[in-house]
Amino acid sequence: MNTYVVGNLKMHLETCRLRDEYVKRLHELSQSLTSEQRSALFVCPPHVHLEKFVTKLPALTIGAQDAHHELRGAHTGSTSSNALKSLGVGCVIIGHSERRGAGESLETVCKKVQTALLSGLHVIVCVGFLSEGQDEESIIKSDVAAILEAITDVVPAHKHENLSFAYEPVWAIGTGKTPTTHHIQTIVLVIRKEVIRVLGDASKSLPVLYGGSVTTENAQQIVTESTADGVLVGGASLDPANLVQMIKMFNK
Ligand code: PGA
Repeated sequence: MNTYVVGNLKMHLETCRLRDEYVKRLHELSQSLTSEQRSALFVCPPHVHLEKFVTKLPALTIGAQDAHHELRGAHTGSTSSNALKSLGVGCVIIGHSERRGAGESLETVCKKVQTALLSGLHVIVCVGFLSEGQDEESIIKSDVAAILEAITDVVPAHKHENLSFAYEPVWAIGTGKTPTTHHIQTIVLVIRKEVIRVLGDASKSLPVLYGGSVTTENAQQIVTESTADGVLVGGASLDPANLVQMIKMFNK
């Protein structure tokens, strides 16, 4: 199985010039990747740049950083999963802690996952948004269960394979701090167990990623020791060379 690298560019690349430089450099660097390596590299720019990324980087999977939980309607400023799909976007990050911290509830996250899967997008759903003092294992377990239970009756089984989880402890995001690899492994296993419990054995290979202060220096150790299926990278993804280096490191 491939080991994934997902770059989350957040609200960066805030001018067209920066966007064009990024796209050009990523395009050049990605020429040295095998087709298998390219298929494991996902890049998620701000919505406004999606079309440019999709057009200029056709060999990579381009992702959005959010989508509305309804497919259509009067939702000012929001984006429909169907619109993303029709643009050629391949995946969407749902439930990032920066959105959960801005008020997005677990219920909304569940609806967004349903809608995006139904649209045919690959969904990377983030878990690990906790307040101080909460029991991490049990919160993550119940969040994962709620997300999975929300899709079982609504999303046809053949679309379940488009789901991935990313364990992103909120305190590790953008701080330069990471949990021990043993701790990451513990949570990755909690998530895998819930996936099998709710969706059954057929879904046991759903990817579980880790995100939070991943760099080219710590990525290999995190993946090898924690058994995560890849990484979700924020800050380090601002240099496309880091994404390309990680994908080569993981998928030799
Ligand atoms: P970071 O962000 O790599 O800058 O910590 C990760 C994320 O927010 O997904």
